[in-house]
Amino acid sequence: MAELDPATRYKLLVNTVHPRPIAWIVSTGSGGMVNAAPYSFFNAMGGTPPLVAIGIGADDVRAGEARKDSLRNILDTEEFTIALVGEDQAEAMVLTAADAPADASEAKAVGVALVPSSLVAPPRIADAPVAFECRLWRFVETHDRGGIVIGEVLATHIDDRFVGDEDGRLRIDAPAMKLVGRAHGAGWYWRGSDRTKIDRVRWPLED
Ligand SMILES: Cc1cc2nc3c(=O)[nH]c(=O)nc-3n(C[C@H](O)[C@H](O)[C@H](O)COP(=O)(O)O)c2cc1C
Repeated sequence: MAELDPATRYKLLVNTVHPRPIAWIVSTGSGGMVNAAPYSFFNAMGGTPPLVAIGIGADDVRAGEARKDSLRNILDTEEFTIALVGEDQAEAMVLTAADAPADASEAKAVGVALVPSSLVAPPRIADAPVAFECRLWRFVETHDRGGIVIGEVLATHIDDRFVGDEDGRLRIDAPAMKLVGRAHGAGWYWRGSDRTKIDRVRWPLED
């Protein structure tokens, strides 16, 4: 990898490590400007403490901006929300990836509805099947203009349609959420409609 150019290194990773869930991050900048953008170098990292991690690259597109708005806002305010993206929202999510100037709100431009959060200042995306309210737990700087944001999930919101109770136990209808994930190559997404079930086994293995 050390001998390859950055674009090829990136290509090797994103075309092999997939599908990747998409964190639709909402953060607030100076003056309360609400910023929304998708990030698919993203996953849950554990339950106790409940952590998620997001890889945020350098801003190589906008002149004069070293860091992407989401990273700058998260480091400034230490708070953000993440929505997981349903099929119905996929196109709006992609629109918010436009390289908007720091003083423009992608959420507003695209018409994404937001609702206030309960524990953090940035709002959350209203129509998302799932949203997390997060506080910055650690930032791992991997280069001078980007790195890995590790967030602690302070609150989880799941649309009532997907939450139920089965014999007193919490039941989440994950397939009904129809979440999309990032696939190989630019512009391709996964839908979770084709699943397979393989039960875990205990040791010792039986024939
Ligand atoms: C589906 C999708 C996933 C993306 N994942 C990432 C990612 O993991 N890391 C990254 O740095 N940029 C990612 N991007 C690009 C950012 O969304 C894009 O640079 C955006 O303009 C950043 O916005 P911001 O400056 O408002 O944070 C992704 C774009 C799309 C459409």
